[in-house]
Amino acid sequence: MLLSAEEVRQFEDEGFIFVPDLFNVEELAVLKGEIPAIFAERRPEIVREKSGDVVRTAFATHTYNDVYRRFVSHPRILEPARQLLGGDVYIHQFKLNGKAAFDGDVWQWHQDYGTWQRDDDMPEARAMNLAVFLDEVNEFNGPLYIVPKSHKSGVLGAGHDVETTSYPLWTLDQDTVARLIERGGIAAPKGPPGSGFFFHGTLVHGSPPNMSPWDRLIVYVTYNRTDNAIRRFKRPAYIAHRDFTPLSVLPDDCLTAP
Ligand code: SIN
Ligand code: MN
Repeated sequence: MLLSAEEVRQFEDEGFIFVPDLFNVEELAVLKGEIPAIFAERRPEIVREKSGDVVRTAFATHTYNDVYRRFVSHPRILEPARQLLGGDVYIHQFKLNGKAAFDGDVWQWHQDYGTWQRDDDMPEARAMNLAVFLDEVNEFNGPLYIVPKSHKSGVLGAGHDVETTSYPLWTLDQDTVARLIERGGIAAPKGPPGSGFFFHGTLVHGSPPNMSPWDRLIVYVTYNRTDNAIRRFKRPAYIAHRDFTPLSVLPDDCLTAP
């Protein structure tokens, strides 16, 4: 599936595009059907919230689960990623972010490429995220907040926050965030399960805690150009992948008719 010229222009100008109905009810059932077993696993790839046993992030699921292995090469997400990045891509990072009802904690304001550059020595911001909502995302359950156009600021100064949540992050200071929001505002993409959301590696984003009784599960795939592979291997391979093999697109029905 290729994006229209208008969608590509929006990605370049605003730093993101929202695509409703990217995956259908049948496909969502397949994707969600795997979650209880994945979240029940005890392995280093599964990071839990500070508050206890609730899953914050399950990393690298596509390396050990066959449904998610197929998902990352689905034409509705891999083809747009190749189109937006302009070449072959591999997966730099994969995560299922639980943001569970009542327990899902904050994600501080940050740019993903800030971390990929500082920690992983990724040469350029030729990487991007694809998010697919596996639950409905509404105004109450901790939607992603993004700052439109902020990707144009390049890599902003950041501090390494190892305390606020159970996961260390290079985060932005309040003055920087306030200045960018004055210019670009805040958007919070919301929608039913199956909605898709592509965003640039330098787009400023974060998300508030989930105080609602509704889970907010989102799957994120970070695609990076194969000629932009990372050069530093400080973080575990399940967080910053070292397999730079280009991905090949699978058939459109690869989730429901494997
Ligand atoms: C992230 O920025 O990596 C995650 C944010 C979220 O899932 O709310
Ligand atoms: Mn992020």
